[in-house]
Amino acid sequence: MFAITGITGKVGGEVARNLLAANQPVRAVVRDLSKGEAWAQLGCDLVRADINDAGALTSAFKGAESVFVLVPPSFDPSPDFQEARAMAATLRTALAAARPGRVVYLSTIGAQATQSNLLTQHTIIEQVLGELSMPITFLRPGWFMENCSWDVSSATNDGVISSFLQPVDKQVPMVATADIGRVAAELLQETLKGHRVVELEGPHRVTPNEIATTFADLLGRPVRMEPVPRETWESLFKSQGMKNPTPRIKMLDGFNEGWIEFESGEPGSRKGRVKLEAVLQTLIESR
Ligand SMILES: NC(=O)c1ccc[n+]([C@@H]2O[C@H](COP(=O)([O-])OP(=O)(O)OC[C@H]3O[C@@H](n4cnc5c(N)ncnc54)[C@H](OP(=O)(O)O)[C@@H]3O)[C@@H](O)[C@H]2O)c1
Repeated sequence: MFAITGITGKVGGEVARNLLAANQPVRAVVRDLSKGEAWAQLGCDLVRADINDAGALTSAFKGAESVFVLVPPSFDPSPDFQEARAMAATLRTALAAARPGRVVYLSTIGAQATQSNLLTQHTIIEQVLGELSMPITFLRPGWFMENCSWDVSSATNDGVISSFLQPVDKQVPMVATADIGRVAAELLQETLKGHRVVELEGPHRVTPNEIATTFADLLGRPVRMEPVPRETWESLFKSQGMKNPTPRIKMLDGFNEGWIEFESGEPGSRKGRVKLEAVLQTLIESR
């Protein structure tokens, strides 16, 4: 049995769909049972566990051949990343108690970076889970193509997309969540000894300008990228309600300056199949 956290979200849902298609038994780990109903109807065992509840997670992971661990995204962490530290400790306790056969942890590109930034949350969790002796794969995907969901309405209505990724002709390692879910499902089914890192990006790197031209082709209207001046980010993010925008700003700097990159660079990363055009088409259709 494969226990899947984050199953009601993008990547977890893709992982589960791939496992069900391979006729594997899936345990849907949800924090709200009503949200898991659709998965129960697809034949999943349904259990409730919050990512911060070690006891519930232990029960959810017990008896699993493999566990997929996804922590919820957080854009505004405490300056000392105490939320990630707490999740790391909780996950370590639950996994050590349940002792599943293997674990795939959804981490991120740049988890090895030494400069503090938003992705440090995953660095912290990787380090703590790395203390466990069970087989663990740290799956480190690039920037999700689905982040473009934030741009659909501005592309459609105004023909202008604000870009924090700069310069707008710089290639960025991006990947579709469909590829992440497919690869994660494969990794969950592979026997493994020890720990490993798998870095994953799409079939080719994508520039912000390519996002604009792809939207333009799909929408049948001109669309351009407009870089948001770096000096305005802090006040902009604070005006949007963020208390601690520094980690997010540092993460964007890391992509733009190139120090958020795969440990083994572009040549060493695994490549997905799903192209940007297919992802944007789906985002436009589901608008
Ligand atoms: N976006 C990127 O470019 C990028 C790149 C690399 C890595 N990542 C990482 O990918 C992960 C996000 O994946 P995603 O986009 O698939 O997420 P998502 O679609 O936002 O889904 C989040 C999932 O987490 C669940 N969740 C939220 N709070 C929870 C809690 N307290 N306890 C248990 N479950 C909880 C949600 O359940 P509900 O339905 O109940 O809310 C949902 O299933 C993050 O760890 C992020 O750092 C993102």
